[in-house]
Amino acid sequence: MNKTDQLVRPNVRALVPYSCARDEYQGENGIFLDANESPYGPLNRYPDPLQNELRTIISSIKGVPVENIFLGNGSDEVIDLCYRIFCTPGRDRVLLFPPTYGMYQVSAAINDTEVLKVPLDEDFDIDLERTLPLLDDERLKLVFICSPNNPTGNCMNQDRVEQVIRSFKGITVIDEAYSDFSRKSSFTEKIHLYDNLIVMQTFSKAMGLAAARIGMAFASENVIRYFLRMKPPYNISTINQQAALARLKDLRQIHVQTDTIIAERIRLAGKLQSLPFVRKVYPSDSNFLLVQVEDADRIYSSLISNNIIVRNRSREVAGCLRITTGTRSENDSLIKELEKIDL
Ligand SMILES: Cc1ncc(COP(=O)(O)O)c(C=O)c1O
Repeated sequence: MNKTDQLVRPNVRALVPYSCARDEYQGENGIFLDANESPYGPLNRYPDPLQNELRTIISSIKGVPVENIFLGNGSDEVIDLCYRIFCTPGRDRVLLFPPTYGMYQVSAAINDTEVLKVPLDEDFDIDLERTLPLLDDERLKLVFICSPNNPTGNCMNQDRVEQVIRSFKGITVIDEAYSDFSRKSSFTEKIHLYDNLIVMQTFSKAMGLAAARIGMAFASENVIRYFLRMKPPYNISTINQQAALARLKDLRQIHVQTDTIIAERIRLAGKLQSLPFVRKVYPSDSNFLLVQVEDADRIYSSLISNNIIVRNRSREVAGCLRITTGTRSENDSLIKELEKIDL
């Protein structure tokens, strides 16, 4: 048993996974009377449980072997599986760096996992001095690092992230949901160096497929095997696999849209900065801006009453709104409404 296996919950290690009809016979042609499907209709067959066509294309785009790729029903399924594979409920712990993406904490609560927190420092980066001593805790199984981080928008310092991975015997999960909007390199390049590293990305942001619910996990073959054993057999529908395959046919369009969003984010930041009640627009490596304003609740309500919906994050980061970059005309409408506000 290697070190990663030892981190896995004993019941998961011993799990005999469900063997579905498509696991037992993988041929494409024949008279299929093995899965109790209806013989009628265009969507009568169960989806490919291993999403082989989609994973193969993702593999060539990302430069990561198929064996190192898992697809979940959104990153949210990947997050939940991390807890279910590694954290024994009522016993184990996770470390989070708030303010950060809320699902890490919700999933911890669902899986009865205690949450340790080290707040990000004043530059919204990992506070290593406070983090490193916590990593020796033998009940600490997971550390979630969100980079670029939601809601602050910035990437974590890569040397600090690597120090955490190296100092921690448990599993470090790096959530790169917004990495397509950043110029920093991806930690997918490092999964072959560290057995205890999981990198998450998603089709929900730059790929523009939030409705299709497809999240990606990149990790060692061993960790991916646990994900495949734990997931429900048909976790990604055929319709959603097809939507992702169709989207990946035109990579140029994805790149053009991503570049347009980045250019708009930069333009929007400049416009917001010149408003009298805006105190600070934080630097962003993502498709959104964290903006500190004088009266967040009032500005939020005023925008809502004009049908412009942003996220009020002032409970997590004092005085801050989180604003997603829209199209040029959506951003112009936002600025026009903000210019009318007189605090
Ligand atoms: C940091 C981060 N990770 C993951 C997700 C969710 O991704 P998915 O749509 O793939 O579940 C979000 C959604 O806002 C996010 O901000």
